Amino acid sequence: MQLQDKVAIITGGARGIGAAIAERYAREGAIVVIADIDGAEAARVAKRIGHQALGLALDVTRPEQIDALVTDVVAARGRIDILVNNAAVFDLAPVLETTRESYRRVFAVNVEGLIFTLQAVARQMVKQGTGGKIINFASQAGRRGEALVGLYCASKAAVISYTQSAALGLITHRINVNAISPGVVDTPMWEQVDALFAKYEGLPKGEKKRRVGEAVPYGRMGLPDDLTGMAVFLASADADYIVGQTYNVDGGNCLN
Ligand SMILES: NC(=O)c1ccc[n+]([C@@H]2O[C@H](COP(=O)([O-])OP(=O)(O)OC[C@H]3O[C@@H](n4cnc5c(N)ncnc54)[C@H](O)[C@@H]3O)[C@@H](O)[C@H]2O)c1
Repeated sequence: MQLQDKVAIITGGARGIGAAIAERYAREGAIVVIADIDGAEAARVAKRIGHQALGLALDVTRPEQIDALVTDVVAARGRIDILVNNAAVFDLAPVLETTRESYRRVFAVNVEGLIFTLQAVARQMVKQGTGGKIINFASQAGRRGEALVGLYCASKAAVISYTQSAALGLITHRINVNAISPGVVDTPMWEQVDALFAKYEGLPKGEKKRRVGEAVPYGRMGLPDDLTGMAVFLASADADYIVGQTYNVDGGNCLN
């Protein structure tokens, strides 16, 4: 019970990695708030978890919804101790076909949404005066470019950079900002990733997913639960002296 009675917001927590973290945090004693653009699914996941969990609708690209989330969580649960900035979207296209529309969408969710959700929650944490933990979701895609995945890679590189800056700006308030960099994880996001690779690399459906899983040094794709241990650690008091770091949790994929 490393997170006993801590109030934790998990953006994009209605499915995939975020849902696994919400369930694990609750088992560690936390009161979780699942904030997702799919408010109905967020509510279903919260109901399944129980233990005072809340499921709320949040589009991280909408400033007024971020402010309302903070207000509503403080009204309902009294405070915010942990933020997991997990919501993100994927897109993929060759450089010569990349559109501004795709750029705006990917950066609005993965970068702007993450930065301003962090800011709104950090303001509340500063007001509370007892520190906090913020965990951003980066990606192996943020460590190096990929010919077809330019926008998503750039958005995740921005997450790694902003994690360092926000960490330096907030540690005097005893707010730790760190990040997790997954490799390839078997979540609903991969249906879209696989379909887009199939289109641009001329592969049959499911083939890209099979290949990337086979190539992971550990021997398989990650599962959402593989990410939860690091998410608990970075939210716990054991991580008090960790500032601005991005941890690979990827079965060795970044060395591949
Ligand atoms: N799955 C992977 O292979 C992988 C690899 C590296 C990094 N990641 C990162 O891990 C995190 C979780 O990924 P996942 O695979 O579980 O993704 P997913 O697509 O399965 O789930 C993402 C969740 O975010 C929500 N969301 C999307 N846009 C939103 C918005 N504007 N506001 C609020 N919620 C929104 C979705 O409704 C969904 O519930 C993401 O940051 C992703 O970039 C995933």
